[in-house]
Amino acid sequence: MRLALPSRTHRFGSLHIAEEARVLELDTRPKNGKETDGDRGGSSQGTARSTRTACFSGQSLDRVLTEMVIVVPCKNEEVSVIRGVISAIPAPCLVILVSNCRRREDGDDQYKKQVDMAKAFGGFGRQILAIHQKDVVAAAAFRDSGMSELIDPADGTIRNGKGEGMLLGVALAAAFCPERRYIGFVDADNFNAGSVNEYCKAFAAGFAMSPHPELEDTMVRLRWASKPKFRDGRLDFVTEGRCSKVVNSWLNELLVPSPEPRNGTCKLHPEGEPNKSFVTTGNAGEHAMTMHLALKLRMAAGYAIEPFHFINLLEMGKVLQRNGGHNSCVKANGPVLDGTTRGGTADKPVRVFQVRTLSPHLHRSSDDGHIRRMWAAGLGSIFHGLAPYHSMPPKTDVAIVSELRQHIRDFAATNGGIDAATGELPSPTIYPALEGIDMQKFRARLAQSSSLKSFGLVIMNSLLKLV
Ligand code: GDD
Ligand code: MG
Repeated sequence: MRLALPSRTHRFGSLHIAEEARVLELDTRPKNGKETDGDRGGSSQGTARSTRTACFSGQSLDRVLTEMVIVVPCKNEEVSVIRGVISAIPAPCLVILVSNCRRREDGDDQYKKQVDMAKAFGGFGRQILAIHQKDVVAAAAFRDSGMSELIDPADGTIRNGKGEGMLLGVALAAAFCPERRYIGFVDADNFNAGSVNEYCKAFAAGFAMSPHPELEDTMVRLRWASKPKFRDGRLDFVTEGRCSKVVNSWLNELLVPSPEPRNGTCKLHPEGEPNKSFVTTGNAGEHAMTMHLALKLRMAAGYAIEPFHFINLLEMGKVLQRNGGHNSCVKANGPVLDGTTRGGTADKPVRVFQVRTLSPHLHRSSDDGHIRRMWAAGLGSIFHGLAPYHSMPPKTDVAIVSELRQHIRDFAATNGGIDAATGELPSPTIYPALEGIDMQKFRARLAQSSSLKSFGLVIMNSLLKLV
């Protein structure tokens, strides 16, 4: 795979965020056998200016993929669609399917069909774990190991939500595949299998781009080439989704503030829109990170999980200045107050790569209400997550965070993002970092789960015996 390297990396304390890298070739042969060929001084993909590129052989990508787990959160997607996704995940990856599908007692059990499908893959040597999010034993495993925040008091099971499913996937990977160093996430409602294959290889290329893999944590966030929409009888290759447009724009306002006030509008930087081109992956459903980082991050509920990464990463980078200048605990308006204070601190620098793929993203289309709730949850996690802070980065005006929060609120009020019950932006629950759970206990308890299935994993049986 050949990628155009990011032209710049922005530093926020110990957090480094690179501008977009782009996949130029899916498959390529390293020049003179060299993996990274640096500045070629030539044009790339028809652009006049020279582009620094990095090239990774299939072998070197495989080395990373062999250490990678891919979590596929799913709900009620057709089994054939989920099968398509799994079939496109590179063979060295271990797949964890976390399902929150409806289950029926009358024999029409969707989860059983998903498990049968996974089993068929296991028969061909693929390594797959599957679990159901509403498994009562999985809920008990979290409760007993110190993560009761994930439990819905209404029925005692793990709360609904994509973020919650992803957390279960991370915990499962940490418990049963501790030798795997990387974890990635790919939505199950992906209709183009080839895209999924590129996503996983782009994750691997991102990790391979890390200049100091032993010394830093890495996150790779994908922006797909386009999201094709069928409009007026033709395909429109939209390059930024409706939700991403909103969330990226406000994250850019935080990280690269525009000189003019926004007054609740979604106005972008007046000079060439530089603030638009930096963060392009605020809502990247397809992303990956080092396992070490996945266990340290405080993750947000549901669809707020991806935008909130940036807030927690900035906290980890120690660049946000707290109100009052003291080290008070982070206080959120969400239902989990104590939980938000646990974890979320870094012991290594973190580097974020944003990678633009060649493939388009084809998935189930959503109505405007779903999109509005999704950006409101993402913006809410930013708005409430920033509440304890007054400035960012240290050099900027001390009032910047409170002003930005006011502009975000005004934007939400104008565009239907305020929660009618609270009169505020939604405040998604922020879960404590998974590093705080008693992993031995979690593994021991989960091993008794009836919905946890393992296929093609020889090591799984021995791991289960460990407990
Ligand atoms: N396990 C589990 N549990 N999976 C879930 C749940 C849940 O409660 N809710 C949703 N999912 C799965 C869906 O089945 C799907 O495979 C995936 O999560 C994404 O959900 P969608 O409902 O298709 O999300 P979307 O397409 O609107 O948004 C996606 O793209 C956004 C960026 O454009 C998501 O990945 C967002 O997180 C992302 O921000
Ligand atoms: Mg989708």
